[in-house]
Amino acid sequence: MDHFQYRDGQLFCEDVAVDRIARDLGTPLYLYSKATLVHHYRGLADAFAELDPWVCYSIKSCGNLHLCKTLVEQGAGMDVVSGGEVHRARLAGADLSKCVFAGVGKTDAEIAYALEHGVGVFNIESEPEFENVAAIAQRMGRTARAALRVNPDVADSKTHAKTTTGAKATKFGVDLERAPAFFARYGKHPALKLTAVHIHIGSPIYSAEPYVRALDKVLPMIDDLREAGHTIDLLDIGGGFAADYETGASPNYADYAKDIVPKLRRFKKEGGTIVIEPGRTIAANAGVLVGRVQYVKTGGPKKFVILDTGMNHLIRPTLYNAWQFVWPTSVAPNHTPERRGPDQPMPGLETCDVVGPVCETGDYLAQDRALPPVARGDLVAVFSSGAYGMVMASNYNALPRPAEALVEGDDYRLIRRRETYEDLVGPELEVEPQPVTA
Ligand code: LLP
Repeated sequence: MDHFQYRDGQLFCEDVAVDRIARDLGTPLYLYSKATLVHHYRGLADAFAELDPWVCYSIKSCGNLHLCKTLVEQGAGMDVVSGGEVHRARLAGADLSKCVFAGVGKTDAEIAYALEHGVGVFNIESEPEFENVAAIAQRMGRTARAALRVNPDVADSKTHAKTTTGAKATKFGVDLERAPAFFARYGKHPALKLTAVHIHIGSPIYSAEPYVRALDKVLPMIDDLREAGHTIDLLDIGGGFAADYETGASPNYADYAKDIVPKLRRFKKEGGTIVIEPGRTIAANAGVLVGRVQYVKTGGPKKFVILDTGMNHLIRPTLYNAWQFVWPTSVAPNHTPERRGPDQPMPGLETCDVVGPVCETGDYLAQDRALPPVARGDLVAVFSSGAYGMVMASNYNALPRPAEALVEGDDYRLIRRRETYEDLVGPELEVEPQPVTA
């Protein structure tokens, strides 16, 4: 469920017409609904309430500070993956002691920055990384908790290969079999206290079943570790909960919780802390990307609708063949979609590719899509773009990134101004030309 709905043929975000906002703020524009963001956060937190988990929102999915602040107000911690994301979490006012720092390639500077600001849990992905974080913590006179990220060798066959992380021979975590030796070697470190376990099997995971399969491997491993004398007081089950790209095609929160919560009941009862790291499921349906039709043209048998935005601002269709619902923001009443999905049983639709301005054939947002007729100047929305949208946008072709705006009820405000040409060249103009030596 989200708050992007058509009323009398006009797309509304909560109680504001999207066309009105686009007229005021221009396009391309990422537009978010606060009520949707909060609704998703609450829905997930409530479904897992019995476990009273830390809900560590995965900043990488959508990092705008104003949105992060909204989630912090709801009680969210943060899942961060870089120094820059620690910085965002700080500025959003998150309780850093309830933040988890993941990532296979943490640099010394990032580790020091996170320790300095009291990030609570380091999700450790390899032996050399443990040694490095521990040494830096010791040098700084800081302590932190470490969670060993194990690779349970579990995948969801529906997850795209590029975002499958829990299968063997991905770069993430250490193989399950190496966990006992890892704990034996590092389990007593005074500065980096290894008392936790982390998994994250991929994104999105389309049912509870792969989580259950992973937990069926990890929970016995935790029992063995405890038997060997180790304390395990935190279990982070990662993110991956799906979003509603197509109406009704993804499980709801109760579906996930029904199978996952019982698995974790004993761990919780024994005093353990559960962490979840949702990103997509909270942010995806809370945002749309709005672009304006520049031209409509034909090429061979194809019709192309060319927008002022494309793979430069939303790379998911190009990178993962991701399917996202695309529809004009203003349509005739008989072109109002009842659900978001590939089949739209309506008269008068025209099959087209919705493409961007970038000089690459792979620059498309939708291919072979049946759409109501559009003309130059019309607005088109790409739905479910809140997650992995703006955060993956680039300046390719020297195209500035979009503005971002947030709707709350019948009100809206800019939460990131549109980039300018000056923003594009500023970092180059700031430096003095350096002499080049042979
Ligand atoms: N935790 C860890 C350690 C992760 O690597 C990720 C996502 C998450 C949590 C959050 O996963 P989520 O709840 O959002 O599924 N760019 C891709 C998705 C990449 C996911 C990367 N890691 C896409 O657009 O589909």
